[in-house]
Amino acid sequence: MSLLLDIKFDNPQESDIFIEALPDLKIIDWRAEQHNNPDLSSVRYALVWKPDEGLLASLPNLEVIFSAGAGVDHIFEDKKLPRDKPIVRFVDPDLRDRMSEWIVLQSLMHLRQQRSYDQNQQSHSWVELSQPIASEVRVGVMGLGELGLDAALKLKTMGFQVHGWSRSEKNIEGVQSYWGADGLDAFLGVSDILINLLPLTKETAGILCTGLFEKLPSDGVMKPAVINAGRGGSQVEADIIRALKNGLLGGVSLDVFESEPLSKESPLWDIDNAILTPHIAAVSSMPALAAYTIGMIKSYENGKGLDNLVDQVRGY
Ligand SMILES: NC(=O)c1ccc[n+]([C@@H]2O[C@H](COP(=O)([O-])OP(=O)(O)OC[C@H]3O[C@@H](n4cnc5c(N)ncnc54)[C@H](OP(=O)(O)O)[C@@H]3O)[C@@H](O)[C@H]2O)c1
Repeated sequence: MSLLLDIKFDNPQESDIFIEALPDLKIIDWRAEQHNNPDLSSVRYALVWKPDEGLLASLPNLEVIFSAGAGVDHIFEDKKLPRDKPIVRFVDPDLRDRMSEWIVLQSLMHLRQQRSYDQNQQSHSWVELSQPIASEVRVGVMGLGELGLDAALKLKTMGFQVHGWSRSEKNIEGVQSYWGADGLDAFLGVSDILINLLPLTKETAGILCTGLFEKLPSDGVMKPAVINAGRGGSQVEADIIRALKNGLLGGVSLDVFESEPLSKESPLWDIDNAILTPHIAAVSSMPALAAYTIGMIKSYENGKGLDNLVDQVRGY
């Protein structure tokens, strides 16, 4: 019985963690071993991030696919993906905490106009800007799942007025719920800071576009800011650039991009009120990912089933 690893992270794969915890399991590290044409007939489990196209389909005895990240769009990109295998996504407090750190940091950067103070520091300018307090600012979180919910609650703790938008209605104390296509416009109308933590699906592709930015409030105590740590496929970068230049948006924080790494030629790099990070808002820590996957394999082997299964029709 084998576990195939095909995880295209920059950090090294730590197969030893698996070998110590599951001594009966053989590990095939695809990136290191593919050139030796390993026998894949024993592979029952695959833990992947951006798997090679067709690799999963070439595993005759595959039973479960594990995503090395919370999102699974990287698996659905494989046109030869075997559609009859369960996909388990990564859900972990480590990932949640990392994401909420980034979201709270970015929200405060826009609230406190830190980019303007950075520029003033560079020009040795002692200038006091008008400063709203968090309780005067409305934050809208798109996606109230594992990550969005935690971020919403932590933003609430910081004093923001928080509401969220999801596919289904939520009942979260202190967080007003909007849901479905019918609830979107009302939600946008009260989002001075808009945060995207939606998965990338057919419905959410390109959702952060001019038409949406125009529905953000014009009567807030600050110009609307957009924060995206979901997926780059949900944003239209040409629209973001235009909205920053024409003042429709006061600022953005982007951790994800239409194409990654972001091209050196992208105008986004040079826009003062655009804060860019290279898809690091919540990196999957290898020890946490290994512990999670090992626990799930043990549960499955003991007949207790799998958690956090992806609904392949919804796409998340
Ligand atoms: N930048 C990074 O470092 C990083 C790291 C990890 C994850 N991510 C991204 O974060 C995403 C969210 O992760 P998660 O674990 O929070 O996912 P999740 O638990 O599956 O939550 C997804 C949320 O989005 C909502 N949603 C999905 N489609 C929708 C639609 N068409 N309209 C309205 N709401 C919709 C869902 O609504 P319901 O609750 O009603 O189903 C749910 O609340 C991942 O898919 C990934 O793309 C980024």
